[in-house]
Amino acid sequence: MSRTVFVLNGPNLNLLGLRQPHIYGHETLDDVERDCRALAVELRLDLRFHQSNREYEIIDWVHEARTVAGGIVINPAAFTHTSVAVLDALNAFEPPVIEVHISNVHKREAFRHHSYVSLRADGVIAGFGTQGYLLALRRIARLIDEAAA
Ligand code: DQA
Repeated sequence: MSRTVFVLNGPNLNLLGLRQPHIYGHETLDDVERDCRALAVELRLDLRFHQSNREYEIIDWVHEARTVAGGIVINPAAFTHTSVAVLDALNAFEPPVIEVHISNVHKREAFRHHSYVSLRADGVIAGFGTQGYLLALRRIARLIDEAAA
């Protein structure tokens, strides 16, 4: 099982730290990437960290992951609630998928309570702030280790 893990971030997450900090906190996406990379060293994972505001780029990265990755951590942001196309792409990816939301989407507007991606995700983390990415990486590493044992 490959130890390459894709960490994919959907629309508006480039504004993390600036956008609605009372909901998403003050850390930037660069801070999140730095923390993920530090943890990846400990977990012996090779990270590919991406963000896009374009749905097709998220889909293309999932397709790329099919050939090289042992897991995906994805915060699809608003595409969570709208995108059958992202779900279809993830359904074509076999290894573990963990869905992350910085905020607790279940405490927010009703339209955020439904996730297309959750129909595929092996685990969902919501409301843990940016720490959710680190918890997701730990889970993916565990699943990769178990598959290799
Ligand atoms: C989010 C929650 C989504 O509802 C929202 O559209 C986002 C971010 C989160 O991380 O809490 O952009 O995925």
